[in-house]
Amino acid sequence: MTLAPGTDRIESERLILRRIAENDLEFFARLHADPDVALYLGLGRPRSSEETLTWLRSTLWTYENLAFGQLAVLRKSDGMLIGRCGLSDLAVKTRASVRAVPRAWYDRSQAPADAELAFERELGYTLDRSCWGHGYASEAARRVFDYACDVLRLSRVISLIHPDNMRSLRVARRFGLQHEDTVEAMGHPRDRYVWPIACRLVEQT
Ligand SMILES: CC(C)(COP(=O)(O)OP(=O)(O)OC[C@H]1O[C@@H](n2cnc3c(N)ncnc32)[C@H](O)[C@@H]1OP(=O)(O)O)[C@@H](O)C(=O)NCCC(=O)NCCS
Repeated sequence: MTLAPGTDRIESERLILRRIAENDLEFFARLHADPDVALYLGLGRPRSSEETLTWLRSTLWTYENLAFGQLAVLRKSDGMLIGRCGLSDLAVKTRASVRAVPRAWYDRSQAPADAELAFERELGYTLDRSCWGHGYASEAARRVFDYACDVLRLSRVISLIHPDNMRSLRVARRFGLQHEDTVEAMGHPRDRYVWPIACRLVEQT
């Protein structure tokens, strides 16, 4: 995610969010290898270190080429890296172009050349298992969402959530996300939820 000129991080009460760097690989390889963490993520299984390296490189690519991306989440009280939260680029087949569940790709270059696509900004959050249950994901998501609206001026933000991912659904409910439909991402069905940007604008006026 692009940070405003002259800014190298965004902060919330208890957290610092900064760009992910090459030397964060060890942490993210461990995070993505945890079966509890991986259960409802893209592949639905723990990732190898090589897969996380590919993910990290594609995250660095999004900073430079799409002006947003996943950010590292650090706890202010002890400086510990506890997870990630940010925006991902998602290419989704338009509903008008498909009869069944639309397919989605995190890497737009993987989509068939003839597919009619819409490009979404997906807000995601993933924390180390030891840091669940403290409100950190909700706090980070709130900050990223505010940044997406106020600085990046996005008019639409979505989240894809596995229907059994109760913790993630509770985060989504906390912010009043609206269920839109189901898409297939990385071979698995995911519910598409829309962040309530219009409501937020109404609240402010
Ligand atoms: C999804 C995920 C980030 C949610 O983590 P989480 O800890 O449940 O969510 P939060 O950090 O927002 O914490 C909320 C919980 O902390 C509690 N809490 C404790 N202290 C709190 C505080 N000071 N402020 C707010 N909440 C607090 C809340 O009551 C809430 O508990 P509840 O859900 O039982 O009601 C986590 O389960 C995860 O990393 N999963 C693996 C990856 C994943 O599936 N990501 C989502 C993909 S869609």
